[in-house]
Amino acid sequence: MTPSDVKATLSFSDGSPSMDLPIFKGSVGPDVIDIRKLYGQTGKFTYDPGFLSTAACQSKITYIDGDKGELLYRGYPIEQLATKCDFMETCHLLLHGELPNATQKADFTKTVTYHTMVNEQMQFFLRGFRRDAHPMAIMTGLVGGLAAFYHDSTDITNPEHREISAVRLIAKMPTLVAMAYKYSIGQPYIYPKNDLSYAGNFMRMMFATPCEEYVPDDVLVRAMDRIFILHADHEQNASTSTVRLCGSSGTNPFAAIAAGVACLWGPAHGGANEAALNMLEDVNKMGGVEKIGEFIKQVKDKNSNVKLMGFGHRVYKNYDPRAKLMRETCHEVLTAMGKHNDPILKLAMALEKIALEDDYFVSRKLYPNVDFYSGIVQRAIGIPVSLFTAIFALARTVGWIAQLNEMIGDPEYKIGRPRQLFNGAVSRDVKPVGER
Ligand code: ACO
Repeated sequence: MTPSDVKATLSFSDGSPSMDLPIFKGSVGPDVIDIRKLYGQTGKFTYDPGFLSTAACQSKITYIDGDKGELLYRGYPIEQLATKCDFMETCHLLLHGELPNATQKADFTKTVTYHTMVNEQMQFFLRGFRRDAHPMAIMTGLVGGLAAFYHDSTDITNPEHREISAVRLIAKMPTLVAMAYKYSIGQPYIYPKNDLSYAGNFMRMMFATPCEEYVPDDVLVRAMDRIFILHADHEQNASTSTVRLCGSSGTNPFAAIAAGVACLWGPAHGGANEAALNMLEDVNKMGGVEKIGEFIKQVKDKNSNVKLMGFGHRVYKNYDPRAKLMRETCHEVLTAMGKHNDPILKLAMALEKIALEDDYFVSRKLYPNVDFYSGIVQRAIGIPVSLFTAIFALARTVGWIAQLNEMIGDPEYKIGRPRQLFNGAVSRDVKPVGER
């Protein structure tokens, strides 16, 4: 960390001694005030629910400028990665810090491909679930369950274990998501086919049957691959922070990533793509474009609890750059499939136009996020709505594991243990049950 010449001074109106706090500069982005010695010197904590002003770690992986609408993985703009690279190159970049050359790319892809199968026993584990279980419930169980199968890669303090567990998780997630899907529709599992690309193999495992081959369409494979790239990492969001916090106890990588999957499930986070598409379908049923005005009125009514799903972001106070790329893919896919008149897409574009002009959204800097369009693309590919968040988890796994490994390798890493402002009952005595 680079110290700044400037220091922050914390003073107290009750005459307690003031304290100088060091300031550190990142390579870009806001400076941070170092409060690590605050409690030791003043006996006070800081209070910051939701971490609105708190950096919990230093990182070299992903940078977001929310005001500009900029997203960089290891310094590379997401627009360039999405148009010039594929998901395997993006994974290499996130995990190892650099884009691979041709030999490194071939080696990395081969290593990931080599690990796509899961232990045959996993299918019996899967059988314990109800057929109508939510895929994220299944994924939380299956990913955590990997720790029971791969004992040789659970020691987080061993760099080789970290490396192999990273590869295993990236390689096996598509297989597990496809298995969860096949189980839900009562079809046999399709084994991975290693001469296909990462995205193509996933789509085949989803849509082929033993009696009918599925030949993935290039446009759809590219769209799937782009969905993976756009969701691969997003710095210290809720699920990534969950993975870091969970992993900070020294637990194994499979357990830490399972915690990330569980966190991602929520509708304010990864569940938003499912919620956004359900919302579009509901408005479509209400009467479609004609009813947008009525729907927006409900969204603006504080008492209605209705939100425009796929809009708004904790960090982006400008157009989410991923949403622009996803919108482009959306048009490409629907045109390739002859569905450019899709009523849901029309509705999404009309909703977006109105929201971008409406003072409620403009004044709160609410713009479309990646989920606004990703659901439409996935639906066009044939992916059921209930699986959207599991696909987000598949794509985010590389980011989670890169962040987890970065944390473990950081000499300043400690178990995460936030403090609290306690305002409950002070010490009191238990009365016998008859006197309460
Ligand atoms: N629709 C309507 N109003 C909204 C929306 C929305 N989608 N998002 C925020 N607002 C309003 C809030 O009501 C609040 O209004 P107020 O100032 O009058 O009280 C204001 O905008 C600020 O909102 P906060 O909730 O304080 O913003 P925060 O940064 O905490 O929340 C969040 C961000 C959770 C993403 C929120 O915008 C939201 O719930 N959006 C819908 C869900 C969604 O799309 N999530 C995906 C996130 S991206 C991802 O995970 C890939």
